[in-house]
Amino acid sequence: MNPQWTGLAFQLGINSDEEERVRHGKQSKYSMSDDAASSIDHALEGLRGGFLPRFRAAATEQALREENAKILGKKGELTAILKELGKAPPDKRKAIGEKVNALKQEVEKGFEECLRDLKKKEREAELSAPPFDLTLPGRPPVTAGHAHPISIVRDEVVAVFRQLGFAVFDGPEIEHEENNFTLLGFPPDHPATDMQDSFWTTSSHILRTHTSNIQIRAMKSVKPPMAFIAPGTVYRRDDDATHSPMFHQIEAFLVDKHVTLAHLKGVLAEFAERLYGPNTPVRLRPSYFPFVEPGAEVDIGCVFCKEPDGTRRGCSLCKHTGFIEVLGCGMIHPVVFENCGIDPEQWSGFALGMGLERIAMLRYGIPNIKLLFENDPRFLAQF
Ligand code: PHE
Repeated sequence: MNPQWTGLAFQLGINSDEEERVRHGKQSKYSMSDDAASSIDHALEGLRGGFLPRFRAAATEQALREENAKILGKKGELTAILKELGKAPPDKRKAIGEKVNALKQEVEKGFEECLRDLKKKEREAELSAPPFDLTLPGRPPVTAGHAHPISIVRDEVVAVFRQLGFAVFDGPEIEHEENNFTLLGFPPDHPATDMQDSFWTTSSHILRTHTSNIQIRAMKSVKPPMAFIAPGTVYRRDDDATHSPMFHQIEAFLVDKHVTLAHLKGVLAEFAERLYGPNTPVRLRPSYFPFVEPGAEVDIGCVFCKEPDGTRRGCSLCKHTGFIEVLGCGMIHPVVFENCGIDPEQWSGFALGMGLERIAMLRYGIPNIKLLFENDPRFLAQF
């Protein structure tokens, strides 16, 4: 007898007879019963015989997946059997473990096959079913969409100027600083550029701060006379109840021989009448823009406190003046003409630019510019 065994047997209090049994790989009478092993075996056999018919009986993919989970899931039957493994005698555990794994693979394979069959059947049923009736009438939309208030106002302003003979000229939103500032007569680092701070995409390109860049683009490429209108998106570092970092403007300008401030005022009066009704008063207040001389800001008679007889008492929206500021304008500066290769001795012209959000807010009484960009259907449905 191996002295080590004797020692161990001694320590454990096992007699030599028991020791012999263990050494010969026989079941120790101290370990769990053989019953556990055979009941596991039994359960495994039952499952092996039963899982396929159960899978085949599932009529839908979901039913099949549920059946699969009942066997392989966390609380599944095979998982439960696996937990019993600890009760089996150690010398049988390996063999049982292998059986469990083999069965697991069989179940997985069976599941995949049944899933494939189910899908095939579904597809066949689809293909042999009567076809959709393509001639059935469609479902009408619950509510029809419509143009955004900014677009509505833009189209109206464009229509007014087109009636006056102006044509649309388009240009990019990412603009060279020359067209946005320099050629418009903004001296480098002039405080006027502070009011138009924007996002620089490269050291010389910005998101344009106004549509006045179109004056430059048009005058550099078209020989006068010309009359253009330029609607578009512009960007500035501005953000409060009446300013948005992204907003919209419309520029209008006209170049011809002997154009005077009277022509500008005539166009403005016509514009105000067509957009806000007959006899809408217009007034010019001197102002500064580097690319016009003289320059002015234009106020129109307040649309909010207008009485039926045309008088205005003043209200909080017009700060009790009876007038509301709507745009900037002026006579095109000779330097701008020169910058674009047009002789200022021969040609003259006027330019004006307005913010569309402002026109829309005035028109509809919208208190906060943000409402225009939130795309809330409860707001947009009101136009
Ligand atoms: N571009 C000016 C602005 O954004 C408006 C303007 C246009 C002023 C044309 C005069 C002439 O404020």
